This record gives sequence, structure tokens and C-alpha cells, in this order.
Amino acid sequence: DKGNHRHFMLKEIYEQPDALSHTVSHYVDLAKGKVKLPADLPFDFAKLNRLTISACGTAYYAGLVAKYWFEKYARLPVEVDVASEFRYREPPMDKDGLALFISQSGETADTLAALRYCKAQGQHIASIVNAQESTIARESDIVFPILCGPEISVASTKATTAQMSVLASLAIAAGRQRGTISEAEEFELVDMLAKLPGAITKALASEKKIDQISHELSKASDVLYLGRGSLFPIALEGALKLKEITYIHAEGYASGELKHGPIALIDETLPVVVVAPSDPLFDKTISNMHEVAARGGKIILITDEAGAKSAGDDVHEIIIVPNAHAFVMPIICAIPVQLLAYYTAVFMGTDVDQPRNLAKSVTVE
Ligand code: F6R
Repeated sequence: DKGNHRHFMLKEIYEQPDALSHTVSHYVDLAKGKVKLPADLPFDFAKLNRLTISACGTAYYAGLVAKYWFEKYARLPVEVDVASEFRYREPPMDKDGLALFISQSGETADTLAALRYCKAQGQHIASIVNAQESTIARESDIVFPILCGPEISVASTKATTAQMSVLASLAIAAGRQRGTISEAEEFELVDMLAKLPGAITKALASEKKIDQISHELSKASDVLYLGRGSLFPIALEGALKLKEITYIHAEGYASGELKHGPIALIDETLPVVVVAPSDPLFDKTISNMHEVAARGGKIILITDEAGAKSAGDDVHEIIIVPNAHAFVMPIICAIPVQLLAYYTAVFMGTDVDQPRNLAKSVTVE
């Protein structure tokens, strides 16, 4: 049931504050300011040399964001790969390593095959899944449920942000077990997760502005998305969402890679979505942005208030997200890229919930 919403996708976008509050409260003890770990955790983060993450599509991008978190807060080396590549690479793995699989459906064929490969390699198998009765859940040593409720729209929205919330909680827990974050730091990070639903609600308020911008975006034949650090995967996610439901060609790039090739594409017809809240890497991304503007590229900047003030005037449009710590920014910035894809698709009249050629669950490779 779509309720008052025109599409499941919009309904699910709007469910995110509630879904995330549900997911976060499962993983963190707000009163104590600590992440809760199951008592029967079959591995110890302190004993790991490496975490290996495999997933497909949007779930892979959630894994890419998690890499930044686990490396920064838990000082744990992380390898992330798309499951379809990982499974055929014959990667060597240290015994007793941890392999983590992320899947909304829990049935994605390549992700399942990657899981079975890791099991044969003597890895601990953990999964983050929404469908708890699924094959991937059944074959895991431990399941971290996403708990976002059923997701009907083919383009994933609430499952993605809820997956990231689970991953953020696990990164904090890993930091605690590995002694790389203090109790006070854990308290602060947990507090940021607790405040996420409110921040997401504020991010949703840019809906009208995004609807306007989407009319112009719908005329483009190509769109470039740029981001740096943990926002790079959000650039990839934004490009994927746009491709999936509007059929406009879009590419996500790490901002620093711009001058290594894609800058050749820039002209007046190319909208460039820059995901750059005012974090420590902001100035670097802004200088990339000026390079785009100098060549006539039309910039749509996703940033916070402070970022908007210092962005300069060669920005074509600005979408404001609420102020928050860099830790939670990838989750918050996922909202405007979802809305941008959604409104562009609605304006173009595509089948938003059932885009052509796509299935919700990809059970063949
Ligand atoms: C994108 C999308 C797909 C899925 C991918 C993995 O919006 O929905 O890219 O993320 O097919 O699916 P799951 O998470 O079910 O393994």
C-alpha cells in the first residue's frame, strides 16, 4: 500500500526517519551511549587483520562507505569488492578472517556465491540483510538485520541508509573492541547516530527545491556526480539511482580523479552534481568544482549551510543538507541524491517503481 504517496519509492524515501530510528535503536543503547553487540558474536574485531566486504549495486556502495568508517575509527584494513568480481578472483584469505555480505533481498546470486567461496576459505561469515528468511541469512554465522521493513520499489532507498546505519554501528563496535576509540568518542559517535532520524527529516525538506532542479536535469543526456572521501560512494550511488529510474546516463567519480580524464567531458550541457558538505576535504572538492565551472559545467552543489556560504558564485544550484559531523554525512547526503533521481523520473514520466530491465531481486548471475 502506497498510502498517500504516488510511488512506493517516495513512500520509502519518506519512511527513512522512522526506519533509521528503528534500526539504530536495535544497535545502540542510547542511555549508555554504547553500541550493543550480540553476546554470541562468533568473532572478535580485535583479532582481525582484515575485513572483506562483498555486495552488489547499492549494497556495494554502502560497503564502500563502511570502508572509510572501519579504517578511520577501528584502524581495520578493509577490502570491498563487487561480489561478481570477488567470487571469480580466487582471492587468498587469512584463516579466521571476517567476510561480510550486504544484501537487502538476501538472495542476490553473486553475493551468495561470494559467501560460499569465503566459507570454503575458512572465514567467519557475517551478513547484513533485510529479508531474514533468505538464503544469505541462513548460510551466515551471524546476521545483522537491516530492519527497515519491506522495500517494494526496485530502486533501493531506505534499505541503503539503514544498511549504512548498521555498518556505522559495527564500525564503532569494532573501534571499541580494538581499543582505537575511547569511551567518550563512542558516546559522541552513538549520539550522532541517535540524531540521524531528525537530520534525515530536515534533509527531506529540500524536496521542493530538488523538484525544481529536476526539471532541468531531465533535459541532460549525461550527468556527472563528484564526491571525495566517504562522500565518493554517495556520488556513485547518486549516479546509479539516476541511471536506474530516469535512463539518463550518469557517472560517479572521485573528485580528485576529475583531471585524470572526465574533465574532458565538461561543457555547458553537462550538469555536475557535487556532493560536498563542509568537512576537512571541502576545500579540495571546491577547487575541483571551480575547474568544472571554468569550463562551463553547470554545478548542482549538495552541501550544508557553511559549505553554501563559502562555495563562491559559480554554483548553478545549491541543495542544503543539515549540519552534522562528517561521520554521518554519507547517510544524510544519500537523501538529496535519492530525491533528485526520483523527481527527475517523475517529471520524465518513467515507471519509477518498476524501471525497465530491472528486477528487485537478482537471483541469476
Ligand atoms: C539499486 C538497487 C540494486 C541492488 C542490488 C543488490 O537501487 O536496488 O543495485 O542494490 O541488486 O541487491 P541486494 O541488496 O538485494 O543484494
